[in-house]
Amino acid sequence: MSEQTAVSGDLGGYGDGTRSVRAGEGSAVPGAPLRPSPVFAAPFHLGDQPPRVNGADAYARTEHPTLRVFEDAVGELDGGRCLSFATGMAALTAAVLACARSGDRIVLPSDGYYATRMLAAEELTRFGVDVQYVSTPEIERFAAEGGLAGVSMVLLETPSNPQLDVCDIAAVATAAHAAGALVAVDNTTATPLGQRPLALGADLTVGSDTKALTGHSDVLLGHVTVTDAGLHARLKGFRDRTGATPGPFEAWLGHRSMSTLDLRLARQAANAAAVVELLDGHPAVANLRWPWRPGDPSSALASVQMLRPNGVVSLELADEAAVSRLLGASRLWAAATSFGGVHSTIDRRAQWGGDDVPAGFVRLSCGIEDTADLVADLAGALDALG
Ligand SMILES: Cc1ncc(COP(=O)(O)O)c(C=O)c1O
Repeated sequence: MSEQTAVSGDLGGYGDGTRSVRAGEGSAVPGAPLRPSPVFAAPFHLGDQPPRVNGADAYARTEHPTLRVFEDAVGELDGGRCLSFATGMAALTAAVLACARSGDRIVLPSDGYYATRMLAAEELTRFGVDVQYVSTPEIERFAAEGGLAGVSMVLLETPSNPQLDVCDIAAVATAAHAAGALVAVDNTTATPLGQRPLALGADLTVGSDTKALTGHSDVLLGHVTVTDAGLHARLKGFRDRTGATPGPFEAWLGHRSMSTLDLRLARQAANAAAVVELLDGHPAVANLRWPWRPGDPSSALASVQMLRPNGVVSLELADEAAVSRLLGASRLWAAATSFGGVHSTIDRRAQWGGDDVPAGFVRLSCGIEDTADLVADLAGALDALG
């Protein structure tokens, strides 16, 4: 699997705003719309040609024109060739299952998104895949000390969700490749603008595009991007056969939404910086985490490995009642899960049962509301905690 697949487009010299808008676009055609409209079709006319000759579409489960444009756009940002999936979990499932065989050992983050651990525990182990869990802060040392011997794939999640720890992708990739293991990175919290795992040596970068990439809390999507042609073919075949292909409306909405990714990330990060300033040292707040807060355990590595900050923050309040009081006293911070959207949200993670976190642990997702409004609202809600 060494042949490199063609990377779409060439926006390398442009900034994030330009890349967000122009990714996936071909050259301008007079009379054509600036952004292609969705093509709503399941089967396509075949005519007298056998299917898939001259790039003709045949049946939308395997590919369709709207999906190709969206995949080109996401692949452009990731620096590889993208396959889009119906959800982030469908993308993660493909990344792991398309590469794993019965008897393989894979390493997953013990502190990452809980549904990924459930996927491993409830599904992968049924097919004879041996799963080992290592935490994000521990994985670099684990890999350096030979822990990846006999491992076929290591999945990283950096920054990890929800505790926002960071690991060194390049260092783990070097050790993993020496051991013959593939490296996949769940890049959801960072987004393709915030971190480029493929450039750091990963083999697969995976994202839940339900989060900041689309960013409006109204669509489920996920993707896997790779540079290796064989790996791309493997994943494409897996998607063709298992069928988690996004339809035209989702693909079009995803493409339309990602045009503003740079703007949304900039405001979310500015809001996070202001919120972190408010929360830092506040008597009601413990274990404040944001990888761009000076002194955060993740900040040294994040500042060299990552390209820009985002709006996801975590912290602990005293208990569940304190979280309820905070939410009850706030007008602008909504109680909701997920993150990366235009609305500011607070999620008490222990209520979902999958994370090993205290009852008062919350993940804040800073939206794109005005900074002063968000800070004033949160300050007032913190006052209500007494
Ligand atoms: C880090 C991470 N990976 C994957 C997923 C799964 O994404 P989806 O909900 O789109 O299936 C999530 C969802 O919260 C996530 O936070």
